[in-house]
Order: sequence, then C-alpha cells, then structure tokens
Amino acid sequence: MYPYADYVTVNISSPNTKNLRELQSDAALHALLSALKARQGELAAEHGRQVPLFLKIAPDLDQSQVQAIAEALQRHGIDGVIATNTTLSREAVQGMAHAQEAGGLSGAPVREASNRVIGQLRAALGAGFPIIGVGGILSGADAVAKIEAGADAVQIYTGLIYRGPALVQEVAQALRQRR
Ligand SMILES: Cc1cc2nc3c(=O)[nH]c(=O)nc-3n(C[C@H](O)[C@H](O)[C@H](O)COP(=O)(O)O)c2cc1C
Repeated sequence: MYPYADYVTVNISSPNTKNLRELQSDAALHALLSALKARQGELAAEHGRQVPLFLKIAPDLDQSQVQAIAEALQRHGIDGVIATNTTLSREAVQGMAHAQEAGGLSGAPVREASNRVIGQLRAALGAGFPIIGVGGILSGADAVAKIEAGADAVQIYTGLIYRGPALVQEVAQALRQRR
C-alpha cells in the first residue's frame, strides 16, 4: 500500500487477534520496529516519497510499558504514535448487563485510559513527537480533552456511530475555539 497511502499505521493493539498485543513487549517491539523502519527506507527510495509510519498501541499498559514503547519509538525513528485501541478492562462498565462479554471495549469506557496513555506518552516523548489521540470522543469537549492530554490530532470511531457525522463539525468547532 506504500505508493497509495498518506501514512501507514501498524496496529499491535487489537484485542481480537491472539498474541498480537505481545508485540508491545520490549524484545518483540524492537525486532518489529527495526524491520519496519528498514522496509520504509527501501520503499522510500523505490517510490521517491517518504510515507510516515505510525504505531498504534493499547490503553491497557502501565507507565513503565508506555515508557519502554516511547523509547523504542524514538530509538527507531518511528514517525508517530496512535493512542489508543480498545480496552480489555471492564472497570468502567462494572455491573452492566453485557459487561462480561469478550472483546475490546470502545467509546466512553476507554476514554480515561486513553487520555492517561496519551499523557504518559507526551511526558516521555517531549514536545514535537506526533501523537494521534483516539478513544471515547463523543463530544467536542472530549476532543479538546485529548489535545489537552497531549495529542496533536484526534481520530473518532465509536462517536460516529452514536452521534453521526455532525460530531465531526462539533469537534472541529471545539478545537477551533480552543485555539
Ligand atoms: C468494531 C471495531 C473494529 C475495530 N477495528 C480496528 C482495526 O481493525 N484496527 C485498529 O487499529 N483499530 C480498530 N478498532 C479500534 C478503533 O480504531 C479505536 O482505536 C477504538 O475503538 C477507540 O476509539 P473510539 O472510542 O472512538 O471507538 C476497532 C474498534 C471497533 C469498535
């Protein structure tokens, strides 16, 4: 897809693919990022165009894991990070009818964990390293909170299902007002 993409995301955080999240551990991550970076270099030479490479991570990581990922991103010269995917945690939906069903939770229940990971990434990466914030944006205020947590841009998935395309305008307006 290199010749067609504006940027490429490598998702190592889906809870639905067995063992995928293990790629976030130290040794596996270094091997993956170094192979991806090498291939990006070859493809850039072949196509005469640098296509940025983003890594997408989970919200279910503790501070030391986020720190290790941030160091790996910088060491391998990855262009940016997307935080976060869905959560395996059921803390935010305790007692609800379908809380125990399998799979990743998106939307409001992932919002706080996503914001925490974004804040930890920004602290570890410093200013200037691109972070795309995603997870639980259901209003303009939620998007502003992502930027305040440290994101440079936002993505929306579940919010589009509950709020429809009008959410995009609300988010754009809220971000413009904040600026
Ligand atoms: C049904 C569904 C399918 C998803 N599929 C993918 C996927 O294929 N790749 C990926 O990186 N993230 C996938 N995600 C995660 C979303 O892109 C997003 O990171 C996550 O849902 C949190 O954002 P949200 O609260 O706005 O939905 C999926 C989420 C849902 C709900």
